[in-house]
Amino acid sequence: MEIINRRQRMSSVARKIRREQDRTIGLVPTMGALHEGHLSLVREARRMCDVVVVSVFVNPAQFGPGEDFAHYPRDLTKDTALLTDYNVDYIFAPPIEEIYPKGFSTYVNVEGLSEQLEGTARPGHFRGVATVVTILLNVVRPDFAFFGQKDGQQAIIIRRLVRDLALDSEIIVLPTVREDTGLAMSSRNLYLKPEEQQAAAVIHRALAKAKETYRAGERHGAKLTELVRTMIEAEPRVRLDYVSIMDGETLEKLDKLDERPMMIAVAAYVGKTRLIDNTTLNATKKKDGASAQA
Ligand code: PAF
Repeated sequence: MEIINRRQRMSSVARKIRREQDRTIGLVPTMGALHEGHLSLVREARRMCDVVVVSVFVNPAQFGPGEDFAHYPRDLTKDTALLTDYNVDYIFAPPIEEIYPKGFSTYVNVEGLSEQLEGTARPGHFRGVATVVTILLNVVRPDFAFFGQKDGQQAIIIRRLVRDLALDSEIIVLPTVREDTGLAMSSRNLYLKPEEQQAAAVIHRALAKAKETYRAGERHGAKLTELVRTMIEAEPRVRLDYVSIMDGETLEKLDKLDERPMMIAVAAYVGKTRLIDNTTLNATKKKDGASAQA
């Protein structure tokens, strides 16, 4: 395994793999602080691709003022040790100036999809995500890039940007990995005390109940959102920010539910920590077995 810090070196290594060796490349973009959720993406990349690249870059452009950029957990030594066990070929861990050189002034904004839900609470967040993902996809030019369904809105935005900008990578979205309690794995769970982690598990219980109710025939969106709201609000340690049911591709808010792919998304605070989670309804299964079921 080689750790690459320079974008030019990463590009030339990837070019060689594609052109001279005719091997497929899988990219798993991360911000480090790796957990089982990331590792599930790495495992799938390993299964599907000849060469696996994991990027580790805490992207300043996706953090707003007052957010946790400075304190975001960073431990490249630990991340490297974990990835060695997974037979990863390259870690791309650039310093900030390799991604955003002096005078950087070009940003990618996926309009419409970026301004709602997380985009309302975190203005500019998805512009930062879309920009860094575009740069990473351009540097590595992977055949496949892997993302988690936990960040459901992010996955939808990235799919749209790849389509709109005609990028030559296929986006694979894999199911959310959960703690035994049902809490979605996230690097930010490190901020939670054990009792807060327990309390936060109500988010998944509420989403699972809503999904079960949909499957039992309920087609009024407001009934499902109310159910989620009531369950979460009954847990005093968790403060709900939003619950919303949307079309799984356009993020159009829905009240009359039908058989199309849809997503119920939640954001909530536990103390100062903002947690997001979602569940999909009628997610389409991909031919290789991967699906976006949460
Ligand atoms: O999901 C994340 O960890 C980040 O948003 C990503 C996709 C690595 C971009 O910085």
